Amino acid sequence: MNYSLRSILLALPFLPVLVTRGSAETGYDAWLRYPAIQEKSVRDLYTQLSPTIVVLENSPVIDAAQSELIRGLRGMLGRIPRVEHDLVPGDIVVLGTLAAAQRAFRNFSLPDDLTADGYWLKTTILDDRHILLITAPNDRGVLYGTFALLRKMALHQRIDSLDEKQNPYAPIRWVNQWDNLDGSIERGYAGRSIFFEGGNVLPDLTRAGDYARLLASIGINSCTVNNVNASPRMLASDFLPQLARIAAVFRPWGVKLSISVDFTSPKAIGGLSTFDPLDPSVEKWWRDKADEIYRAIPDLAGFVLKADSEGRAGPSVYGRTHADAANVLARALKPHAGIVIYRGFVYNHHLDWRNLKNDRARAAYDNFHALDGAFDDNAVVQIKHGPIDFQAREPVSPLIAGLQKTSETLELQITQEYTGQQRHLCYLVPMWKEVLDFDLGAQNRSTPVKEIVAGKTFHRPVGGFVGVANVGRDANWLGYDLAMANLYGFGRLAWDPNLAIRDITAEWTRMTFGNDAQVVDTVMNLELESWHVYERYTGPLGLGTLTDILHSHYGPGIETAERNGWGQWIRADHEGIGMDRTVATGTGYIGQYAERVAHEYESLSTTPDNLLLFMHHVPYTYVLHSGESVIQYVYDSHYAGAAEAEKFPEWWQTLQRRIDDQRYEAILKRLTYQAGHAIVWRDAICNWFFRESGIPDAQNRVGHYPNRTEAESMQLSGYAVQDVDPSEDASGGKAIACSASAKSCTASFLFQGEPGWYNLHVQYFDLNGGGARFQIFVNDQQLDQWVADLLLPSNKINADSSTRHTIHGVALRPGDRIRIEGAPDGEDRAALDYVEIARQDYYSQ
Ligand code: GCU
Repeated sequence: MNYSLRSILLALPFLPVLVTRGSAETGYDAWLRYPAIQEKSVRDLYTQLSPTIVVLENSPVIDAAQSELIRGLRGMLGRIPRVEHDLVPGDIVVLGTLAAAQRAFRNFSLPDDLTADGYWLKTTILDDRHILLITAPNDRGVLYGTFALLRKMALHQRIDSLDEKQNPYAPIRWVNQWDNLDGSIERGYAGRSIFFEGGNVLPDLTRAGDYARLLASIGINSCTVNNVNASPRMLASDFLPQLARIAAVFRPWGVKLSISVDFTSPKAIGGLSTFDPLDPSVEKWWRDKADEIYRAIPDLAGFVLKADSEGRAGPSVYGRTHADAANVLARALKPHAGIVIYRGFVYNHHLDWRNLKNDRARAAYDNFHALDGAFDDNAVVQIKHGPIDFQAREPVSPLIAGLQKTSETLELQITQEYTGQQRHLCYLVPMWKEVLDFDLGAQNRSTPVKEIVAGKTFHRPVGGFVGVANVGRDANWLGYDLAMANLYGFGRLAWDPNLAIRDITAEWTRMTFGNDAQVVDTVMNLELESWHVYERYTGPLGLGTLTDILHSHYGPGIETAERNGWGQWIRADHEGIGMDRTVATGTGYIGQYAERVAHEYESLSTTPDNLLLFMHHVPYTYVLHSGESVIQYVYDSHYAGAAEAEKFPEWWQTLQRRIDDQRYEAILKRLTYQAGHAIVWRDAICNWFFRESGIPDAQNRVGHYPNRTEAESMQLSGYAVQDVDPSEDASGGKAIACSASAKSCTASFLFQGEPGWYNLHVQYFDLNGGGARFQIFVNDQQLDQWVADLLLPSNKINADSSTRHTIHGVALRPGDRIRIEGAPDGEDRAALDYVEIARQDYYSQ
């Protein structure tokens, strides 16, 4: 027997094992995996599907629909249907626009109530043969119908009797990427840009095309590829051919390119001495520039403009209005059917915090309300869903109902900037759904947010939904497989905001992880719990996330909100907390809402607990509707939230072997990290509130950690004790770090508890700029070792870098010496906060 044959035969018995255990998925396919359908009962649902696809016309988008259909059927059924362009005999699947379908089937009545991008999936019998028709007013709709059919199959639904008409809820369904031309991404947590590097468009745009495919599958029709803090180079003549290459890879997927522009461009790159929007030379410059762009990119969707915001120059430089600025761009885009989306995120970030009447939350309304009606029809104001900036909870922005003669888009953030940065699981669909359904009661009638922004309430010509997204070069797009549910959910809600949360979540879960009931239940529970859990251990009662707003926007940083010009104040003192935004005694923000909503928020008795401190300033002893005092609620919610987060990895572990190992391990790592970081949050917030209020926790948890040994109290060699700022970022306000010259440091202490099995939680600081190594010993026995390589957003010892490593099931006896050895690396000084030793419940001695 020759060697290779023998090795194949020897390997054979192991093959099945290799296939199941070694299965690995990177997450690149996201929800478009099309795995083979194994269950016979499910395959039987599709046996009647015709082997022939008739494609009635050709266009890049319809070609994409055709190849997607084949890809999906091949993946799920293992069959490659034949493609025909004529009506061959026999059963057929037909792809084509309504116009082409009408030509092909003269006596068949087609619907006349489909709008652009809508589609019809219809099974019928014509001339004695089964036809499955995927048709739409435009080719993008045909593509969407194709994805819808494949989705049904991935969800194991029947497709033998279809009559499904779908129209998108709104014409604008965009994502805004905040990518910079140098390849970095503003608020990017998943690697570098898939569009840019070193000031140029990437030579290989395969990923950009694959991203467009993902976007198309959920109905997104435009992607703005660059940061709202835009570089003027975007409009440089020599750059346009590069942008045209992105547009070209988007085009087959019906995704139009849009770009953010810098308002100073006429001066910055145009050679003019001004960018005054009312100056005729500026007007001409924008017109000429638009003409030039459309020559290179005839289907550009339009411009996005951030002006007079966070240091970006805008019309105020010349005493002009936002409408003046938007309209000069709108007029330039109009002949090309382009639109300008003007960001309503305009506020003064140098507000005087000493003035109790000042209020950043008022800014959007104050800046735009008076301009209602002054914007051209193809100018759209984009409004963040809350009046501040994507916090874990905010009330709905009053500007949404404050503009009734202006088109709007609602801005939601898929990027988890303030909600855990894709390291914490925080599924935002439930939050967005609350926003979309919120009834602003304009004109004394029911006016939910979704209807206003879609242009339905006030009969606007355009409107819709924009999601800020930050996919990057990480294989799984967002750095975290579970975070992809936010991208999926955004697209589905933009298509139809009336979809149920559970339905969206079930779709995403089944398509991402398969239809195993235990997997589906567990993943859905995790996703659906996660926003409330995150809110509980971060910023409750409408305080905002309570994160560090000056730097990372990640870990706790309560004081950063106060006493500066950014205006995210929480107005805390020793007696009480919260912004008084009432009309009666506060900033008057509440008066920006229509009467019914204003009435509800103005009174303490009707303000919901979860927005209490956004609307009112109250003493810590104030009793909530729930019956708890504010201060006790803060303690309880943080302990509850951290305890719930602790369950997440345990739930996940029930799925081992039920999904592929690669995604299983990667997700377990993040959920485990989150459980540890939730404790950092809990302790920081609770200790700060305790210090500020002086009111102890009724359950005596805050400030009492009986199982902890502080690093600063251990026997140290090479390590030095240091104060941590702010002090609540470390247990006891102190940490230990290796001194600059030390190669290796040790910290040790004696275990004094009962003999038994324990879990050892080592709380350490994982700093950027190096990968410190840790080893832990009991007496001379090494228990574990690890490297601090998590890439957290800090190179300082603080709550951003604070991390937990757990060693489970350690047998300990009184008098055991526990020793940690830290080996610093670069800027990472192997810093430690404490060791907590907790009894392991499930093994008894
Ligand atoms: C937030 C975010 C910025 C971003 C800005 C915006 O403030 O932190 O990075 O530029 O929003 O939406 O314009």
